[in-house]
Amino acid sequence: MIQAVIFDLDGVIVDTAHYHFLAWKRLAKELGIDFTEHDNEQLKGVSRMRSLDIILELGNLRLSQEEMERLAVKKNQWFVEYIMAMKPDEIFHGVKELIREIRSRGMKVALASSSKNAETVLNLLSIKNYFDVIVDGTMIKHSKPDPEIFLQAAAKLNIPPVNCLVFEDAEAGVAAAVAAGMKCVGVGSSELLGKANVVIKKTGDFTMDQLLTLN
Ligand code: BG6
Ligand code: MG
Repeated sequence: MIQAVIFDLDGVIVDTAHYHFLAWKRLAKELGIDFTEHDNEQLKGVSRMRSLDIILELGNLRLSQEEMERLAVKKNQWFVEYIMAMKPDEIFHGVKELIREIRSRGMKVALASSSKNAETVLNLLSIKNYFDVIVDGTMIKHSKPDPEIFLQAAAKLNIPPVNCLVFEDAEAGVAAAVAAGMKCVGVGSSELLGKANVVIKKTGDFTMDQLLTLN
């Protein structure tokens, strides 16, 4: 029985995944590295520094730790600039209603995002109070595909992992949910997210009937 639903943030609740892409693309351009939306799939769900590693690998570029940290700060400043212009109505259609419905059926709701900006995004959308538990990039040692973030959310909710359902748009995130022993709804392309139990196009498309079939 599903007793808790754990949501990823970027790309599941709001299209901040696109702002991450724009900021990384801008950085890659400065470094003379070609970086496409296809490449960007590898960055989804993973930490800021791991994302930078992947971009540098794509460009066969090796930089000092100090330089990498400088670049990561720069990318984050751009990302924060982009999200500061965000309005609460940028939340994906149907997400608030879905969370309310889940809660009204007695299930717990958590947020598990690798992002260190998660709290800022939740505040911008005015939805922090929709979650019983929030675990973000400042609270974990290993980011997705490691299951740590989901296991931490389940422990804080006091619900066994096997009774948790995760919503994820990232390949690394689906892998993390599976590794945590949880059920998973993939949000996006079934080619990329095929390891999820079910794949939907948009978070708001998900219905309670689908949830019941996952029990
Ligand atoms: C994840 C995103 O939610 O957070 C990744 O999917 C991002 O693309 C990661 O790199 C870390 O985010 P931040 O905001 O801490 O740089
Ligand atoms: Mg995501």
